[in-house]
Amino acid sequence: MSWDEAFAHSYEEWSAGMTADVPFYVALAREADGPIVELAIGNGRVAIPVAQATGRRVIGIDTSPAMLAQARDNAEKAGIELELREGDMRDLTLDEPASLIYCPFRALLHLPTWADRRRTFERVAASLRPRGRFAWNAFAFDPQIAASIDGRHQDEPVPHMVRFAVGEDRTDIVLDGGATSSLWWATKNEWLGLLDVAGLELESLAGGFKGEPVGGPGTEYVFVARR
Ligand SMILES: C[S@@+](CC[C@H](N)C(=O)[O-])C[C@H]1O[C@@H](n2cnc3c(N)ncnc32)[C@H](O)[C@@H]1O
Repeated sequence: MSWDEAFAHSYEEWSAGMTADVPFYVALAREADGPIVELAIGNGRVAIPVAQATGRRVIGIDTSPAMLAQARDNAEKAGIELELREGDMRDLTLDEPASLIYCPFRALLHLPTWADRRRTFERVAASLRPRGRFAWNAFAFDPQIAASIDGRHQDEPVPHMVRFAVGEDRTDIVLDGGATSSLWWATKNEWLGLLDVAGLELESLAGGFKGEPVGGPGTEYVFVARR
């Protein structure tokens, strides 16, 4: 299982330190002239500021009922409306093409196989308006970081252990208590190959949310593509 429902109970705390991506996705959303979709919306951490900043129709897809319940509560508290749908990003279908589809916080890495990602990219391409954008971020696998944290218990942001299954291209984040979130990493060429097979065009690739160059230690790939 790539996303354990029990992980949802700690997600608010787990994601509290991740704020750098919000202005990036909000800026893209401001440039969108139609519906906006977040794949794997989680608790609405990014979608709520996006909806607040744009006033546009924001649709959020997620497989987890527990995460969708948190998104519903958080949107209500913020006084905004999100269209929340329980579903798998691999089966994305929309009643109206989107002008922006985005997927923050490495959530595409929850898809175990290249075929799962190909299917998702093809569904994204089919769901975008002409020249509509698809944006996502994912870490570049860094063997030095992996070696330094593999199997080491960490207390922050919530007590957990990270384990690397190198032969499987997989990182398991295991919270104390056992809730697990698994991520299957991908190389830059795999991401570019996915764009190619889906008929999408790369607009920009940075190594961080502020346009940092790709390649430094701890690189976070930040992709923007167009249909
Ligand atoms: C790391 S959270 C990201 C949540 C949110 N996008 C954010 O940036 O905070 C990952 C989310 O991916 C969802 N998820 C995992 N696999 C999925 C799939 N195949 N389709 C849709 N959602 C999925 C999980 O339920 C979880 O809410």
